[in-house]
Amino acid sequence: MLAEVLDYLKPEKGDRYLDLTAGYGGHATAILQATAGTATLVDRDENAVHELKRLFPKAALKHQDFLSASQTLAEAGEQFDIILADLGVSSPHLNEADRGFAINQDGPLDMRMDNRQELTADTIVNTYSDAELADILWRYGEEPKARQIARLIVGNRPLHSTKTLAAVASRAWPGKSRVHPATRTFQALRIAVNDELNLLERSLPLWVQLLAPGGRIVVISFHSLEDVIVKRFFGELAGDRYDATLKLLTKRPVNASTHELVSNPRARSAKLRAAAKINI
Ligand SMILES: C[S@@+](CC[C@H](N)C(=O)[O-])C[C@H]1O[C@@H](n2cnc3c(N)ncnc32)[C@H](O)[C@@H]1O
Repeated sequence: MLAEVLDYLKPEKGDRYLDLTAGYGGHATAILQATAGTATLVDRDENAVHELKRLFPKAALKHQDFLSASQTLAEAGEQFDIILADLGVSSPHLNEADRGFAINQDGPLDMRMDNRQELTADTIVNTYSDAELADILWRYGEEPKARQIARLIVGNRPLHSTKTLAAVASRAWPGKSRVHPATRTFQALRIAVNDELNLLERSLPLWVQLLAPGGRIVVISFHSLEDVIVKRFFGELAGDRYDATLKLLTKRPVNASTHELVSNPRARSAKLRAAAKINI
């Protein structure tokens, strides 16, 4: 959603730019072309940070999750004119089987964005109780058959590969379906392994604090659980109230254009929300 990101962030020469999920630098390349200013680039994935170092030797790089990076920046009193958070996994996460995210490729049950972290999908799948698994599948995957899949997982342990997990979870959904029947199971485990919703919820207030008056923020989410958090948070700080700190730039979430969907079908679930900090 590069065109939309540029449209809402309106990067200008000299702008201070914070990218909380810089990935492989697609957005950063375009934004830095316009700002020719300073950039702070964050990503919790080692391979992404390696690539970012190569692409942007002058940027301040942080190999951290965005909550701890934002806390450090806020404590240091930093301010930014544009902030971007393009949430979720990157294409290499999904394309490299050994990262354990891909449902259609065989790999270890890993799913960590940051490989320094201890918790993996394998630990959750093989050691969590039936009830804990069902809770994760229900809350993070919105899986209607959460209990049944949790029981299937527990009854078929040990499970150490994405292929076996996908096969076991699929038994709850016999017959044909449009999407892979284990999609919600994989989403739930990924969110749990990377603590995605908790980090987002706790980071949003810091991002507003880090935004300079008049500054713009864009958050792109890839599933409704994330989007609801962003929508609620922006809504609380904006609106028709004397002490509003944000002005909404998007009343509804913006979707990827049909033009983009042709070359990047993964963008079909992307939802972009943007806001500006009110000058106070
Ligand atoms: C959709 S990709 C971003 C792509 C990037 N905008 C680009 O143009 O190349 C999401 C990136 O965010 C990173 N990420 C996800 N959650 C994170 C978090 N809580 N803290 C830091 N990085 C995170 C992932 O490792 C991944 O590289």
